[in-house]
Amino acid sequence: MELTYRPRRLRRTPALRALVREYSLSAADFIYPLFVHEGAEVEPIGAMPGASRWSLAALTGEVQRAYDLGVRCIVLFPKVSEGLKTEDGAECFNANGLIPRAISQIKEAVPEMSIMTDVALDPYSCDGHDGIVSQDGVVLNDETIELLCKQAVVQAEAGADLIGPSDMMDGRVGAIREALDDEGFEHVGIISYTAKYSSAYYGPFREALDSAPRAAGSKPIPKNKDTYQMDPANAREAITEAQLDEQEGADIMMVKPGLAYLDIIHRLRQESELPIAAYNVSGEYSMVKAAAERGWIDEKAVVLETLLSFKRAGADLILTYHACDAAAWLKEA
Ligand code: PBG
Repeated sequence: MELTYRPRRLRRTPALRALVREYSLSAADFIYPLFVHEGAEVEPIGAMPGASRWSLAALTGEVQRAYDLGVRCIVLFPKVSEGLKTEDGAECFNANGLIPRAISQIKEAVPEMSIMTDVALDPYSCDGHDGIVSQDGVVLNDETIELLCKQAVVQAEAGADLIGPSDMMDGRVGAIREALDDEGFEHVGIISYTAKYSSAYYGPFREALDSAPRAAGSKPIPKNKDTYQMDPANAREAITEAQLDEQEGADIMMVKPGLAYLDIIHRLRQESELPIAAYNVSGEYSMVKAAAERGWIDEKAVVLETLLSFKRAGADLILTYHACDAAAWLKEA
């Protein structure tokens, strides 16, 4: 055949393929999520093979391991003891709570590691919602924000570098920015869960923290988070959320979940100049782990291909439970 264009010419050797490669992965772009609890044991999480609830004592070792592999940021999630959970989740701003203690301990042991935190009430709420639930079953916006601001300030005081509001209350980014600035934390950044969808992919995470919505007393508790997290059917609405977050002072914008929402990552990339993060959430992780355990897929190849897809869609950084494994595989290559 007389073909002028033969795209295969540039695929012929590994060197030529590397020469024209458009996107790449780096361990420095990963944020590694870690679960922490008060117990003395490191407890494996049933629905997330390879992930654990770390004791405070063992946590620093895992952070050091991640650092040695090239990971430069972690995010912490607390499994709060049932006895500390209340309707207003006030434990979230206890300066001696699990998260502030974990942050100061890590900052002392591995000072170069950046720490991101999660701001929301769900791990601290006996109702399992990200905000306060009123007596008639409504998740209250403005009342919740007051608590979130206190939570953010306590996390910043303990040494957090990036505050991550995951609650989806309206106006929380601006309010948290103001609260941080008022307390002298103008250097602490906000990585906003900008387009966070009401997703079934969070199932394993809610098992890890025992934080799913539940009815404790006589109060009606919404069974899902549909009145604050976004409808999976909506794409334009993500742009609106992004515009608001930018105006309110977000430093980084996140799309969550990642894999089923690559189109949203791509759209935010085109709409904004801010760094975009993708959250490769628990359900996405567990599906890969389950198939790999059965020998149905090649875990390493699938994980690296998936992480690359976030980059190609336009993400600058990726929150992923595969962070350490992927960092180790990238070192091999
Ligand atoms: C809490 C929070 C959730 C996740 C991160 N922060 C769960 C939820 O909103 O119900 C999910 C993370 C994952 O599934 O990996 N607001």
